Amino acid sequence: MIIKTNISIIGAGLMGHGLAQVFAFAGHRVKVYDAHQIALDSLHDRIVVNLKSLGQDVNSSANIEVFSSLEDAVKDADFVFEAAPEKLEIKRAIFADLVKHAPKNAVLASNTSAMPITGIGENLPTNDRILGTHWWNPPFLVPLVEVVSPHFTDQVNVEKMMSLLSSVGKSPVHIKKDVVGFVGNRLQMALWREAIAIVEDGIADAETVDTVVKQSFGRRLAVLGPLENADLIGTDLTLDIHNTILKDLSRATEPSKYLKMLVADGRLGMKSGEGFKSWSKDQAQRLRNTLFDHLKNFK
Ligand SMILES: NC(=O)c1ccc[n+]([C@@H]2O[C@H](COP(=O)([O-])OP(=O)(O)OC[C@H]3O[C@@H](n4cnc5c(N)ncnc54)[C@H](O)[C@@H]3O)[C@@H](O)[C@H]2O)c1
Repeated sequence: MIIKTNISIIGAGLMGHGLAQVFAFAGHRVKVYDAHQIALDSLHDRIVVNLKSLGQDVNSSANIEVFSSLEDAVKDADFVFEAAPEKLEIKRAIFADLVKHAPKNAVLASNTSAMPITGIGENLPTNDRILGTHWWNPPFLVPLVEVVSPHFTDQVNVEKMMSLLSSVGKSPVHIKKDVVGFVGNRLQMALWREAIAIVEDGIADAETVDTVVKQSFGRRLAVLGPLENADLIGTDLTLDIHNTILKDLSRATEPSKYLKMLVADGRLGMKSGEGFKSWSKDQAQRLRNTLFDHLKNFK
């Protein structure tokens, strides 16, 4: 039997609505605040569409209430998840309000994609309850949540958060150092940096790079992590490969010129119809549908 907990979500956008859905579907009481009424007005409809496409009970959205006051949304919270824009000053202002208005024992989490939590919670009172929970999009289909604890977080609150997340079917992992990008985005961006460098250097075009990933190690990644893979082939062979290859890989510490040029040209990807590749509306929608079905049917 589920023990109902009061969950508050700050920000009803792409991630916030998904988080609300996960907790509401698990039977918790969910309160959502957003600075823009339009995001609150559309919240239930967006969640009902998701629940329908997953074949889940749409009535669970009745566990969600929306609020145009942060104070009202968090005053009886056990856990608060902030999913506001990725801007440090916005997040710091929100956390300054949260430590004032949420109950003293509420655990307060930021869903920042990459910012160290130290910068968000430093010098705030009672910051032993502030931590990071980095969810992945869509939060109702991707199981991982990286729970990040800066030096000021009390381990008890990390454990409370890990058990809450496990209880709603997520796969939380504890990231012990509060580093930029945590673990998932550090790994992902190392791959993207090399992928872009390969295109920029004319080694292969974007289509070829994506085909290489999807048709080879991409197929194995869900069941074979990189370190398992290194053990599978042997650390000795891994060392030999590294001796040959590492010196040739991109070590850029700035975004690539090619990427900056795409952005400056307005080639912003699917939203503008062109990025690394060209996208018609249909092609973009087909890929989104393929991704959704893949994640939904993933065993
Ligand atoms: N989009 C992703 O794939 C993804 C994945 C993991 C983490 N994140 C992180 O999650 C956070 C939210 O991202 P998103 O994609 O949901 O953004 P989003 O733009 O879809 O949603 C942000 C919401 O915050 C609201 N908002 C703006 N200012 C606010 C304020 N002061 N107080 C409360 N609400 C406010 C906006 O009205 C909007 O509804 C960001 O930190 C982002 O980096 C995003």
